[in-house]
Amino acid sequence: MNILEVDQLNIKDTHTGKVIVDNVSFELRQGRCLAIVGESGSGKSLTCRAIMRLNPSSLHQTGRILFRETDLNALSAREMRNMRGRPIGMIMQNGMSAFDPSCVVGVHFRETLGEHYGWSRSVIDAMMQEAMQSVMLNQPAQLMNRYPHELSGGMLQRMMIALTLVLKPDIIIADEPTTALDTLSQQEVMAQFIHLRRTLGSSMIFISHDLGAVRHIADDVLIMKSGQIIERGETGQLFTAPRHDYTRQLLSARLTLSDHFRQLINEE
Ligand SMILES: Nc1ncnc2c1ncn2[C@@H]1O[C@H](COP(=O)(O)OP(=O)(O)OP(=O)(O)O)[C@@H](O)[C@H]1O
Ligand SMILES: [Mg+2]
Repeated sequence: MNILEVDQLNIKDTHTGKVIVDNVSFELRQGRCLAIVGESGSGKSLTCRAIMRLNPSSLHQTGRILFRETDLNALSAREMRNMRGRPIGMIMQNGMSAFDPSCVVGVHFRETLGEHYGWSRSVIDAMMQEAMQSVMLNQPAQLMNRYPHELSGGMLQRMMIALTLVLKPDIIIADEPTTALDTLSQQEVMAQFIHLRRTLGSSMIFISHDLGAVRHIADDVLIMKSGQIIERGETGQLFTAPRHDYTRQLLSARLTLSDHFRQLINEE
């Protein structure tokens, strides 16, 4: 069963008339993780933000985005707001941008969970603290009273994962959730992502340049280039037998990069 169907999504820059995402169609199956891979500027983030209807109004989008029976592209702004967070959660590249810099992070959790579930402050605090501990954030009660700028990028991403654990969205969209982190934090956050998927069994869209991570977490992969999907398939099959030249290049460039990296380490 498909939980999300994107049908002929087209995104056009109304200032320049340029088509940035060109009639893209794909499905996310219930409980599966779909990765979107492709070079910088290929339209991965705009596609995901189009699902959430978060692109600037200068970018005009057409097509259908069916979440269960509902076309998200036809909802009013108010109806769409109710979709963000609970039914569809998003974890972005930069954890800082998810939080209001003028409030301690606990305020953000209470607002978000209060809005979607109507729980009291004490219930929210207890649930958040348990979730934070499950993603290896120690002393959660103190952390709730910190401002975003007092926390590292890796901690903020783990906070977002903890919030997602409590929100329990049906779909999680993660746009390069580890890119802004150092290598060690990347591994920690990735481990928590895997924990999140296992715990919730949510369906997930995962964008990453890290093909190792994609291979590990994704069931299906889409390859994007210049606003179009040029190849798609199950992860194992796509990695072992890519059909398109571009996919082969992308895979070998990444593997060469990591071989080179390994060599550098060995030579030290
Ligand atoms: N607000 C905007 N207005 C006009 N063009 C935009 C806007 N945002 C992005 N673009 C352009 O749309 C194209 C796709 O951008 P997008 O951010 O989706 O790429 P991406 O695949 O996510 O790249 P990356 O891997 O670097 O994150 C790019 O050429 C970008 O310059
Ligand atoms: Mg992007």
